[in-house]
Amino acid sequence: NGQFLSFAAPSPGVWLVSGDRELLMQLLVNLVENAINHCRPGTRIDLSLAANGNRLVATVRDTGPGIPEAERDKVFRRLYRLDKSRSTPGSGLGLSLVRAIADLHGVDITLADNQPGLVVSLSMARANSVV
Ligand SMILES: Nc1ncnc2c1ncn2[C@@H]1O[C@H](COP(=O)(O)OP(=O)(O)OP(=O)(O)O)[C@@H](O)[C@H]1O
Ligand SMILES: [Mg+2]
Repeated sequence: NGQFLSFAAPSPGVWLVSGDRELLMQLLVNLVENAINHCRPGTRIDLSLAANGNRLVATVRDTGPGIPEAERDKVFRRLYRLDKSRSTPGSGLGLSLVRAIADLHGVDITLADNQPGLVVSLSMARANSVV
């Protein structure tokens, strides 16, 4: 879609979280798909992973139109889409699935302004070993 995708993990090492691999992948895929579908060609989509004490913080940020502050809670509702998204394909289920998977894994999600664009931060407990 003429966009630029990057990934950065500033600290080297092994990063473990405990959970369902496929569901966590689905969570990330839904966020990246949103950045692809709701942002124009030329947009940057940056993924990052960083440690914050015993938490891992993953972010998905884009330089697209963003989500106004007043809508940031509502977009997690089933079937909720911003008016400007009515002409793009989708059904408004992606973020409600993201929320459900996050809740199941104790992942805290915040949406914020990337100035411009959207930044989605996911904070999750770091696991020490593979179980
Ligand atoms: N990265 C983003 N930039 C701008 N708006 C976004 C972004 N991600 C989501 N949105 C807005 O939030 C709405 C809800 O997102 P959600 O993923 O739940 O549904 P969808 O992408 O429209 O459809 P689906 O995910 O079911 O294909 C979108 O319709 C769009 O208006
Ligand atoms: Mg979506």
